[in-house]
Amino acid sequence: MNDKAIAIVALDDQAIGRAQALADRLGLELATIEADNSQLWLSEHRLALKVPDFKQPFSIDFSSGKYDHRRRFGGGRGQAIARAVGLKQGQTPSVIDATAGFARDAFVLASLGCQVTMIEQNLVMSLLIEDALLRAADDPDIAEIADRMQLHQANAINILAEGKLQADVIYLDPMYPGRDKSALVKKEMQLLHQLVGTDIDSAELLAAARAKAGKRVVVKRPKGAEFVGGQKPAASVHSKNTRYDIYPTR
Ligand SMILES: C[S@@+](CC[C@H](N)C(=O)[O-])C[C@H]1O[C@@H](n2cnc3c(N)ncnc32)[C@H](O)[C@@H]1O
Repeated sequence: MNDKAIAIVALDDQAIGRAQALADRLGLELATIEADNSQLWLSEHRLALKVPDFKQPFSIDFSSGKYDHRRRFGGGRGQAIARAVGLKQGQTPSVIDATAGFARDAFVLASLGCQVTMIEQNLVMSLLIEDALLRAADDPDIAEIADRMQLHQANAINILAEGKLQADVIYLDPMYPGRDKSALVKKEMQLLHQLVGTDIDSAELLAAARAKAGKRVVVKRPKGAEFVGGQKPAASVHSKNTRYDIYPTR
């Protein structure tokens, strides 16, 4: 799906100003609801992506569903992702999440106290994250967490090479090319696959991250998957369906 193929729709009068501002920012025209096209739907308080193959419009909401459940019951600093990035008593590393996607992992890490700089190359995904951050800033339960999260829309390989972003940990979760059936059956992953396809630059991204991370790079992989770029990690942390490969930088 091409970003420019997306049209912007204001669902109600209150959303017209914001929809027009977004259309101007992206150089697009406002449109009306059209079932055959991918569209960004704006209501007064929410941006959602509507694609023809999916019944429901999709948006990111840090205050509900899986985000909220994981924040409350995900296991805190004992969970695998926390151990992989090096969260310990008295140690809360800063993190660059260079493949932000749905910002799920970024939200978990920010919930645990990390400053998280997100990088997402896909324009639509980054707009959905930006909208979720705006709403979270107005929600007293999670505003403090959202305040620890920043977003850059860019290719991480390029922006890391510029050297302006720095963190103890660079976290990568590249798209896995398809054999991961458990991920593919999930609706949201199907949507992401439609939107961004498969990452072909994971090995290059890992090299860029290893050159820049303060302490370590962590790569999330499905259980049993090969190492990115064939590069063997120093250690791995395992959870039920996921493996976190750790590449220390010093
Ligand atoms: C599997 S998703 C990440 C899901 C994320 N960990 C979460 O918890 O929601 C991979 C995302 O990384 C993005 N991505 C892949 N390569 C990238 C790059 N070089 N720079 C920036 N974003 C990239 C893709 O566009 C996609 O949205």
